[in-house]
Parts: sequence; C-alpha cells; structure tokens
Amino acid sequence: MSDDALLQRIRLSGAIPTHVAVIMDGNGRWAQGRSLPRPLGHAAGMAAVREAVEACLATGVAVLTLFAFSQENWQRPADEIAALMSLLEEYIEREMSDLRERRVAVRFLGELDRLVPSAREAVDRIVATTAGGDALALNICVSYGSRAEITRAARLLAEDVAAGRMSADQVDEEALARRLYTAEWPDPDLLIRTSGEQRLSNFLLWQLAYAEFHVSPVLWPDFTRQHFFEAILDFQRRDRRFGRVPV
Ligand code: FPP
Repeated sequence: MSDDALLQRIRLSGAIPTHVAVIMDGNGRWAQGRSLPRPLGHAAGMAAVREAVEACLATGVAVLTLFAFSQENWQRPADEIAALMSLLEEYIEREMSDLRERRVAVRFLGELDRLVPSAREAVDRIVATTAGGDALALNICVSYGSRAEITRAARLLAEDVAAGRMSADQVDEEALARRLYTAEWPDPDLLIRTSGEQRLSNFLLWQLAYAEFHVSPVLWPDFTRQHFFEAILDFQRRDRRFGRVPV
C-alpha cells in the first residue's frame, strides 16, 4: 500500500498516539546477515531514524522517544562504542538544520556526563539549535537506563525531603514522575520494538505502564515509514481500558 493510502487509513481509523517510544533493535543482526561489521548496521539504522521522524511528522505524533544507547551498552567492545558515539555526532551534524527547519525539538535523555566531550558538545548544540520546535519533540535516550532514572528521581525526592522543601507524605506518583527525564511529556501510548524481541530491556519502565506494545519482526535498519504507519494502525485497533471495564 502507498504512503498516501496508509495515511488515509490512519486518518479514518481513530486517534493518533500522542507519544511513541521505540526500541530500535536488530542493527547487529542486520550487519551480520550481510557479513558486515556491526557498526555498519548502526549506520544503516541511522537512516531508519529519519524514516521514523518522517512518519511522525506525516501523522501528527507529537513526541517520539528513541532508545539509542543503553547504560548496559557501555559494556560492548570499545570499537563498537566508538562507532556509536561518532554516528551520534554524524547524525547531529547531518540532520541539525533540517530538523530545525521542520520544527523538530531534539532532546537527549540519560547520563550524558558519560559521553565523550565531542559527543556531549554536539548534543548540547542540537538541543540549543532546535529548542522551541513545535512540530515534534524528538527524545533520544543515550546512556539511558530506566532503573537508574527511577533511582535518581527517588534520590532527588529524598534530598527535597531532607532539605525541608517537601514532606514525606507529599511523595506521590506525580512527584516522582516530575523528577524523571520525561517529566514534561505524557507517557508513551505506543511502544514499538523491532527485530521480534519481546523485552523492555530497562527502557521507560515507569512510563510504559499503560502503553500498547507493537513488536515487529523487521530489523531496525529495514524499518521504513510504512512499517511505522502499520504500527500506528495496529495501535488504533487496540481497546485501551487502563484497568477499567469496557463502556
Ligand atoms: C540495537 O541493535 C541498537 C543499538 C544498540 C543502537 C541504535 C543506534 C542507531 C539506530 C543509530 C544511531 C541513532 C541515532 C539517533 C544517532 P543491536 O546492536 O543490539 O542489534 P542486535 O540485537 O541485532 O545485535
């Protein structure tokens, strides 16, 4: 089916998810299947990031949160980490002006202090350059782990209580959520994971409480905007009850 036909079906099929989160999995297998080094799989995955952004702009998804590099990924071989860091810088240099023109506001979530200085500078540059974009909020999770994020929020709450800025009985779900990296966005409505794996892998454990899951067998570098549209159509077929009974 063509892009236009899929978009038409989406428009007729119901609500668009406000926030879509993606675990971009399968870059390594994509490369290995072609007898290529793993970093070339990540380079091909960068093109799929562009497809996902296009799909969000075309459908009106307001927030796209991508899992690009986990805290556990620091344990990968040094050459793969170096390749991922330089791809991140390449992505920023290559896409920055286009993202700005298309009013995409880019943010990075995670322990950014662990990034090499040049990557950190590139990250700060694109965040400043695209600030205020109102067509799409693009969150890229780098050096990110959800348990660490929740632990950090708990520590911030403890500090506020210890300093007398709040009392222990003011610690509730909203107070904790306000201290997560995602504080300013609604929780994801839809989680897409590629390459057929059915795990959360320490990604947005708190925020995905009521998200619908779409697991695609397609490896991330092959995940086109049409696949993204199909994930939205799948989401539109779901009956979201949030723990309540159907009305
Ligand atoms: C998981 O595949 C993917 C990653 C660890 C990196 C994701 C990075 C990109 C898509 C490119 C850079 C992105 C941006 C936003 C600059 P895997 O290596 O775990 O694949 P495997 O499970 O097949 O081994």
